[in-house]
Amino acid sequence: YSANPTTKTEQTFAMIKPDGVSGNYSSAVRKIILDSGFSIIREVLVQLDEDTVKSFYAEHSERSFFPSLVQYMTSGPALAMVLEKVNAIADWRALIGPTDSGMAKVTHPQSIRAMCGLDKQRNCVHGSDSPQSAAREISFFTTKSLTGFIPKHDEL
Ligand code: PPS
Repeated sequence: YSANPTTKTEQTFAMIKPDGVSGNYSSAVRKIILDSGFSIIREVLVQLDEDTVKSFYAEHSERSFFPSLVQYMTSGPALAMVLEKVNAIADWRALIGPTDSGMAKVTHPQSIRAMCGLDKQRNCVHGSDSPQSAAREISFFTTKSLTGFIPKHDEL
């Protein structure tokens, strides 16, 4: 998507999902983020409601796992973050590893999902998969009209 991905400063959307927050992985994941050269531009602890999750994951609404995904994502607080660095979108995806944390433990043992995820659903973290997704997800989580947000460091 970029002629020169290694020199373009980008923002991506990251989230520590409910299993990551409740499992006390937030500070370990934040440390990896900062040690990997990302700046955390915005950060907000959110209790997502059903409508917000359904809208965020709208592209998966026809999948059999959708009701389960909605239930899981509303099960407790999540930490939403905007990360910035050169090549942020691809680099964050590489750092988190494959969607299926069980698989990640085998194929990408150093990845974040291998460290703190359990399976395809409880995979600890989210990352935007493209510049289009990043733009959509960042604006989704920085819209002041959204309810259910508990501001952490930023005003959001
Ligand atoms: S897929 O199958 O390629 O569309 O899946 P993927 O795009 O990697 O995953 C999309 C998000 O849906 C979650 N997911 C699941 N949840 C519950 N059960 C199953 N089987 C399942 N498969 C995928 C997955 O955690 C992805 O969430 P994000 O936040 O995008 O990583």
